[in-house]
Amino acid sequence: MERIDGAPWVGTSWKMTKTLAEGREFARRLAEALAAEPRLRERVHPFVIPPHTALAAVAAELEGSGVVVGAQNAHWEDAGAWTGEVSVPQVADAGAGLVEIGHSERREHFNETVATTAAKVAATLRHGLTPLLCVGEPAEVRDAGGSAEHILAQVRGALEGLSEEELGRVLVAYEPIWAIGEHGRPATVPELEAPFAALQAEFGSRAAAILYGGSVHQDNAAELLAMDDVDGLFVGRAAWRLEGYLELLRLAAG
Ligand code: PGA
Repeated sequence: MERIDGAPWVGTSWKMTKTLAEGREFARRLAEALAAEPRLRERVHPFVIPPHTALAAVAAELEGSGVVVGAQNAHWEDAGAWTGEVSVPQVADAGAGLVEIGHSERREHFNETVATTAAKVAATLRHGLTPLLCVGEPAEVRDAGGSAEHILAQVRGALEGLSEEELGRVLVAYEPIWAIGEHGRPATVPELEAPFAALQAEFGSRAAAILYGGSVHQDNAAELLAMDDVDGLFVGRAAWRLEGYLELLRLAAG
């Protein structure tokens, strides 16, 4: 299967939702749908990020489907006395090809910092997996006109010291905090222009892709994907039902 150059990335993190059975069922039906509609995986880079508990089962269902399976977090050390944590080699062993790093929920509730995101990006690259680095500013920073500066600082800090070859394996997702989740509202195209231009100017030709996330929905996905600077979408709620995710893949496939 050949994927066309520049195909957009369209993926979903399930956050803390879905049982093992639900995850397996989603993955099984996704694999079937992609087998029936091969143009979706030729024209899109699909990825799915289940909770750790469903990672191995989802990866097994999606083997050979063209879907990259990711972990929502992984520790920067390979092994050791880190109760409750899971390492990059462990998520790789369970079938992950990608690690989500620095989501705003983890920065807010679990002490994720620029330093820990940098350590996790390095660990992920060291083991040959793809880091998906999430960055975004709070509403106060947006209102003060500081969005671009804030997210550039987060990206520079997390990617500092990487070689150009390593940078070329990193996915970045710009997810304004005010746009995420039930209490968020989607960013509009005009609001995204300056932050994306800033990210693309510094990292566009160096990172693998720069995605948008935050209240992506079937109704706004097409206009977001039509932005020159947006290389893909990172989706929560609107992709948790398989039909919703397939609709987004079809929109992205054009
Ligand atoms: P949402 O989540 O699409 O439900 O707003 C996005 C995210 O947190 O990545």
